[in-house]
Amino acid sequence: MCGIVGAIADRDVVPVLIEGLKRLEYRGYDSAGIAVVDEQDVRRVRRTGRVSEMENAAIAEDFHAHLGIGHTRWATHGGVTEANAHPHISQGVALVHNGIIENHEEQRERLRELGYQFESQTDTEVIAHLIHHYLKESNDAGTGPAQGLLAAVQRAVKDLTGAYALAVVSRKEPERMVCARMGCPLLIGLGEGENFVASDVSAILQATRRVIFLEEGDTAEVTRAGVRVFDGDNVEIQREVHVSDVSLASLELGPYRHFMQKEIHEQPRALADTIEAVIDGGFSAELFGANAEAALRDIEGVQILACGTSYYAGMTARYWMEAISGLPCSVEIASEYRYRAAHANPKHLIVTISQSGETLDTMEALKYAKSLGHLHTLSVCNVPESAIPRASELVCYTRAGAEIGVASTKAFTTQLAALFQLCVVLGKLHGKVSEADEADYLEQLRFLPGSVQHALNLEPQIALWAEKFAGKQNALFLGRGLHYPIALEGALKLKEISYIHAEAYPAGELKHGPLALVDAAMPVVVIAPNDKLLEKVKSNMQEVRARGGELFVFTDQDSNFTESEGVHVIRTPRHAGVLSPIVHTIPVQLLAYHTALARGTDVDKPRNLAKSVTVE
Ligand code: M6R
Repeated sequence: MCGIVGAIADRDVVPVLIEGLKRLEYRGYDSAGIAVVDEQDVRRVRRTGRVSEMENAAIAEDFHAHLGIGHTRWATHGGVTEANAHPHISQGVALVHNGIIENHEEQRERLRELGYQFESQTDTEVIAHLIHHYLKESNDAGTGPAQGLLAAVQRAVKDLTGAYALAVVSRKEPERMVCARMGCPLLIGLGEGENFVASDVSAILQATRRVIFLEEGDTAEVTRAGVRVFDGDNVEIQREVHVSDVSLASLELGPYRHFMQKEIHEQPRALADTIEAVIDGGFSAELFGANAEAALRDIEGVQILACGTSYYAGMTARYWMEAISGLPCSVEIASEYRYRAAHANPKHLIVTISQSGETLDTMEALKYAKSLGHLHTLSVCNVPESAIPRASELVCYTRAGAEIGVASTKAFTTQLAALFQLCVVLGKLHGKVSEADEADYLEQLRFLPGSVQHALNLEPQIALWAEKFAGKQNALFLGRGLHYPIALEGALKLKEISYIHAEAYPAGELKHGPLALVDAAMPVVVIAPNDKLLEKVKSNMQEVRARGGELFVFTDQDSNFTESEGVHVIRTPRHAGVLSPIVHTIPVQLLAYHTALARGTDVDKPRNLAKSVTVE
């Protein structure tokens, strides 16, 4: 949820750190800071608010150095204050940290007894003091500072329980940076005579594409000349060098005002990329890994686990799964599943869905599922080499490209496309999908990017609706069947970025309670495509109109709706068949975006949220 960047080079690294933090800012944006090692001293600048404020302070204070670390924070332990912002310093040792230290109170007591004083309320400050304590201990014993920082970090992390990615520098060792990883991603970027550390490759892409992903328990020493990596037993080890294919363009705004707007408009391309392999090679088990067929044949059901928007993708997939593959399918919020005494059928495939591949609740749910004996696991993820796919047997990478806006958009629709592919593949392997069905599904997929583009063209009409929504306090979203999860997603998007309270219900559930909320001040958004439930949805809409509620209906060109007083209608061009939920996602995304715009909120960085949620 926070972001780390570090650099050691012959050139001034301060611009590299600032640029890296700006690229990481979407991950957490409560406060930011850098620490540099400068002529045997550590200098630090921290500010609450955005990276640009910290940058101005760094310029004003004339920060320049060849070694430095930086951090952008999403507050967990301790409020949003400068004192709680990273880096934290303990007598010349400066450190930035992502993750949560669970035993920080116990360590704090121990360190207080050793004479350390605390300036912040964070768990992180404990780590800085611990490292200093071990450095001092080795210095006092005469081990000498040359190996000091690395050894001190390796000793300190053994005292920690919890999750961390760390980058550490010391004024006594201006030639190195030390880092460590457990439970939070961290990578090292390899340059020419300069090297980098980052929690996310986007932070260092301007400098290098060659990266080493640290493994759980690894520590590393990074100098200008090279990198040494050590495993959890402190044994030096070689880790593979990867070349990142993340494009710089995906990290730039281009002609758009916001990343969310850009990412909404990228959906035809993102979907075309995600379905490319199926369009070229058909619905083959190999889409999920070279040896996927045996595992996918072996299963008797599916359990989907995810959070937030990814959970709604899972809810949609359940309708497809049962209808297309004939397999029983359950969907559960990962943070609930992981603490439930679930009765596992080992032959139920665990499917985790996560844009980031880092979400702690989903990761822990996956571990829990494995501990219950589930034999096969599959991850639908947008970030190659991230933790959840690495912990899964089978993987389907969505090809949405980097998603920067906190509100997930293109990741959601590409997750849906990937899950649809999984349903059809399972249907084939389990004898439910005939050749004719397969050809039909392929044909529907072929039309998908075009249909999504048509839906995007509705933007001007939707922007007009958004002006009406901007003055509201509440909104209701309704859908049925496959489109109920899309109503949920529409409500989540609206509340996330416009701060309007929004709820979604299956339209048939309205009369069982939420109808009491409906009056002339309550806009009711209905997702009503021309499917077998349309007549039922129309009856539910009558219930709203009879109570004076104003209806905003998204439907297809071919459904016989007419506008009337209190009933506004926007039509997507044609019914997209079984893929209609993907097409009907576009209007609700645009409605949320334009409503937020009209209300003047920070669309890409909504209050209190962060892009990837690596805490419980
Ligand atoms: O990275 P993940 O897909 O695992 O993230 C799950 C949720 O945190 C995420 O979808 C969140 O709900 C988004 N902010 C929704 O827009």
